[in-house]
Amino acid sequence: MTEFLNFKTLLLFLLVFCFYVPHFSSLRFEEKVDNLLPQISPTGNPQPLYPLLAPSPLSPFTITNSTAPKLSGLCTLDFDAMDTMMSMTAIDCFTVFAPYLANVVCCPQFKATLVILIGQSSKETKKLSLNSTIAKHCLSDFDKILMGQGANNSLQQICSVGPSNLTEASCPVKDVDGFEKMVNTSKILANCGKIDLVNECCQETCQNAISEAAKDIASVSYEFDAMGLRRPSDISNRVINDCKSIVLRWLASKLEPTRAKEVLRGLANCNLNKVCPLVLPNVRPVARGCGDEIKNQTSCCDAMGSYVSHLQKQSFLTNLQALNCAASLGKKLQKENITSNVYNRCRITLQDFSLQANGMQESGCLLPSLPSDATFDSSSGVSFLCDLNDHIPAPWPSLSHIPASSCNKTVKIPALPAAASGARGLYTDDVMFLLYTMAFILVAIR
Ligand SMILES: *[C@@H]1O[C@H](CO)[C@@H](O)[C@H](O)[C@H]1NC(C)=O
Ligand SMILES: *[C@@H]1O[C@H](CO)[C@@H](O)[C@H](O)[C@H]1NC(C)=O
Ligand SMILES: *[C@@H]1O[C@H](CO)[C@@H](O)[C@H](O)[C@H]1NC(C)=O
Ligand SMILES: *[C@@H]1O[C@H](CO)[C@@H](O)[C@H](O)[C@H]1NC(C)=O
Ligand SMILES: *[C@@H]1O[C@H](CO)[C@@H](O)[C@H](O)[C@H]1NC(C)=O
Ligand SMILES: *[C@@H]1O[C@H](CO)[C@@H](O)[C@H](O)[C@H]1NC(C)=O
Ligand SMILES: *[C@@H]1O[C@H](CO)[C@@H](O)[C@H](O)[C@H]1NC(C)=O
Ligand SMILES: *[C@@H]1O[C@H](CO)[C@@H](O)[C@H](O)[C@H]1NC(C)=O
Repeated sequence: MTEFLNFKTLLLFLLVFCFYVPHFSSLRFEEKVDNLLPQISPTGNPQPLYPLLAPSPLSPFTITNSTAPKLSGLCTLDFDAMDTMMSMTAIDCFTVFAPYLANVVCCPQFKATLVILIGQSSKETKKLSLNSTIAKHCLSDFDKILMGQGANNSLQQICSVGPSNLTEASCPVKDVDGFEKMVNTSKILANCGKIDLVNECCQETCQNAISEAAKDIASVSYEFDAMGLRRPSDISNRVINDCKSIVLRWLASKLEPTRAKEVLRGLANCNLNKVCPLVLPNVRPVARGCGDEIKNQTSCCDAMGSYVSHLQKQSFLTNLQALNCAASLGKKLQKENITSNVYNRCRITLQDFSLQANGMQESGCLLPSLPSDATFDSSSGVSFLCDLNDHIPAPWPSLSHIPASSCNKTVKIPALPAAASGARGLYTDDVMFLLYTMAFILVAIR
């Protein structure tokens, strides 16, 4: 335990440097900025984004003494074989940032790593789940290893993962052999062995294959009816969901870990980009300030500014999530009879929905719709890629509004960030993008 205590006693504080990168402001991207990301860049040069980190005025610093933590010795998972991915997870879930990156990067990576660990171990054990005793030891060991590398100490709460999530839960199939007898494995591999990160979210090729396989194995515990047919309607969603985990673990056992991670994170992105993860408080104060055809613009925009400042303390968002949040908030305001475009009037931009660095102006950061992992560098700390455009006004929902995550490619919503690559092809306008790199510098005070 001492190595953790040692680490915890370091008083950490956060300096956020938001660096404007001038030469990027003159760069025009013909294609979507998201296309620069390695995953979806066929030819481009995906590398130049991270090295833009500014030099730290406070270097050097070390995260922690990475001595091996004391493990239970009772976990059957092979953590050593996955040490690179586990280090990446620790950085994605780094101490104070974990809650702010939970939804977009940390938890998707945390969960994917667990799925891959179990999948890889099934090659030996032939089991796609852990029993509850072993699950407890394994999750605790997993946590310890991550914490030893700087991860937050409450990841189980932050990501709502417990030992039961490592078991088969209510899924009736947990053995590799049983699984392979019941599902069309070549179909899963054909559809999920490699996914098209941009189109998967709309076409759901892999997601459908996984659901189908989950239904196949979920149905095993159900009786055949008089006609000798299975009755899938009898199978509860809970069982199907639990079986989806089994399918994912099986898939992760058939793929290289890095490929498996790409697939799992890609699937997670589809879900997270469909929602607005922010808690939107009651809009009455804004409705009061902005009602009656907005008699007093100052009080309207003050109310709006105060409202968004609450949102800005919550979480980092992807650009698509920010669009969803703008739509949700707009609809709430419209329900309160605010008919005119308050976003326009008060110059609310997409960036305003993002977490803001304390006390700094224009210091929001929207992540790309396919957020990449955070990186760590001993001189500059933890950094991640922001995909930011100051000048994109938040779109006010129109009556014929189609949500941002809509896959209808014929819909054209004006003034949306071209970076919304989940809806690639939607926006043909050439949009100038500014890129910020936020370098979070953690300084250990002794
Ligand atoms: C890490 O800690 C262990 C014991 O706590 C110590 O023996 C070792 O020298 C330390 N390593 C570094 C690089 O500080
Ligand atoms: C871990 O996250 C929690 C929020 O869930 C936060 O309160 C805590 O400070 C973080 N721990 C560390 C060591 O940063
Ligand atoms: C879990 O598996 C281990 C080893 O296979 C076994 O010793 C233990 O009894 C099992 N525990 C339960 C609750 O089934
Ligand atoms: C873990 O299991 C609990 C209870 O079954 C469930 O509510 C929760 O959503 C699961 N978490 C994940 C990440 O699947
Ligand atoms: C399995 O799926 C493949 C591809 O989708 C299909 O061609 C094949 O007929 C299926 N096999 C069975 C036994 O259904
Ligand atoms: C608008 O409201 C502000 C305070 O909210 C007040 O100071 C200002 O005088 C008002 N302006 C008009 C034109 O009523
Ligand atoms: C909105 O306006 C309608 C019609 O003028 C009215 O009936 C309704 O009560 C108003 N709703 C709110 C929340 O003010
Ligand atoms: C897509 O949106 C357009 C314009 O709103 C509409 O005419 C068309 O029917 C939609 N297509 C689908 C498949 O929903």
